[in-house]
Amino acid sequence: MAEEQTSNVILGIIGGSGLYHLDQLTFVKEVNPTTPWGAPSSPITISSLPTGEQIAFIARHGTHHTHQPTTVPFAANIAALKHLGVKAILAFSAVGSLREEIRPGDFIIPNQIIDRTKGVRQASFFDGTSMVAHATFGDPFSKVFSAFLAPRVKEVLKEATGDTVQLHTDKTVVCMEGPLFSTRAESHMYRAWGGDIINMSVLPEAKLAREAEISYALIATATDYDAWREGEEPVTVAEVIKTLHTNAETSRKVASAVISALHAAVLSKEITSDVEGGMKYSIVTQP
Ligand code: ADE
Repeated sequence: MAEEQTSNVILGIIGGSGLYHLDQLTFVKEVNPTTPWGAPSSPITISSLPTGEQIAFIARHGTHHTHQPTTVPFAANIAALKHLGVKAILAFSAVGSLREEIRPGDFIIPNQIIDRTKGVRQASFFDGTSMVAHATFGDPFSKVFSAFLAPRVKEVLKEATGDTVQLHTDKTVVCMEGPLFSTRAESHMYRAWGGDIINMSVLPEAKLAREAEISYALIATATDYDAWREGEEPVTVAEVIKTLHTNAETSRKVASAVISALHAAVLSKEITSDVEGGMKYSIVTQP
């Protein structure tokens, strides 16, 4: 890493579309590391909590949304956070809904992923090396992290929005290749496969976090009903943007309400226990 290092930043936040900064934190500094995989999507903002501990924030698509999903420097983002000392990442992402009951504006903590980006994006830190590694990825999100998160997010949503924004858990996110949205036929197919929500950016982020032994959980925020609803127009950017700003505002409230507890839970290893050390037996290549 070419630039300065910040140690003891154990919690990272990755903001998705609409979420380009957090609030209610004290700005400490911005760092611009370079990694063997290039520069991260945005400068990394280091902020401090009221208790003095520091957290790191990256805007996945860049501070001015200049990276499209296919070209987000995912490996650089994860490597830079790892280098800072990050052990857990809370990621946010705008998603389309594939289910009637998941309404635009709702929040989702998924537990499964269907990969529709295979072969297009660099999915492993081991790509292009002479080492072969097979990491366990049956549960792509940290179960302990997601379980820790769910009741806390639910409580914040209730306080912040009454009962208007629902939290859905244990859902399957389809990660598709962008940048165009799905056809109606694809949208129906994803529903038939068991997909509940759809986005373009949880992968390879979650895979790389797993290889880096970083505990990873996602808060997805629904913006639209994708293209499966007959008699309704398929999703457009205008529709996504309508909900995006409200969702980002609510995401900031959620983040600031849960960050201190998350930080403490990383310190105590409560939300990293199922991922830490996970690569120990993954490398097949003999030394
Ligand atoms: N992000 C937000 N809405 C989406 C959709 N319908 N499909 C893919 N990614 C999305």
